[in-house]
Amino acid sequence: MVRIDIITCLPRLLDSFFAHSILKRAIDANHAEVVVHDLRDYSTSKHKNVDDYAFGGGAGMVMMIEPIANCIRSLQAKRTYDEIIYMTPDGERFEQKTANMLSMCQNLIILCGHYKGVDERVRQHFITKEISIGDYVLSGGELAAAVVSDAIIRLIPGVLNDETSALTDSFQDNLLAPPVYTRPADFEGIKVPEILLSGHEKKINDWRLEQSIERTKARRPDLLG
Ligand code: ADE
Repeated sequence: MVRIDIITCLPRLLDSFFAHSILKRAIDANHAEVVVHDLRDYSTSKHKNVDDYAFGGGAGMVMMIEPIANCIRSLQAKRTYDEIIYMTPDGERFEQKTANMLSMCQNLIILCGHYKGVDERVRQHFITKEISIGDYVLSGGELAAAVVSDAIIRLIPGVLNDETSALTDSFQDNLLAPPVYTRPADFEGIKVPEILLSGHEKKINDWRLEQSIERTKARRPDLLG
């Protein structure tokens, strides 16, 4: 069971993401708990502001430290967190090994950035891990938080029907996944590789491994080291 608290100024953006499919099933079955917190609820200002002008000038608003500190502290008063993660394009690049590690945690906070980012003091004093989902800039950290949460939750034992299927994902062994096929075995003359219809489990596994290696060599030679 992993609990993920997501702090955002756009909570509605995340609601539908967790209300469907594998994630919904995981949450309904108590494998995961995702709680979305509206940063505005923790603002102490009259107008519930969560951002302000940057000291020193320049374009773009900066997320203020007080609402974020209030929210994180109120969560920490209830439980201990393994990591307090900030989603940001200048964080460490998210990879499967990070997802594997985070899926073994009990409690995680994910803070979504917006505008020009958060006051640097939040990063210095509250954040324990900074994650980027790739070298491009999104308009907010919400989609990135959803990506990271999805990658974590599907790894929790019991979430996927076939427990072995997360283990055979691309990247788990530094190899891309092999091609897969389903019925019909012959679509307008385009046939499924004969070996997959043979029933020889050993030969099929050998073929899949060979395909994984070929595919990785062709598409992601960097993974082979
Ligand atoms: N926020 C904006 N862009 C992002 C990215 N690429 N990764 C994580 N958080 C982000």
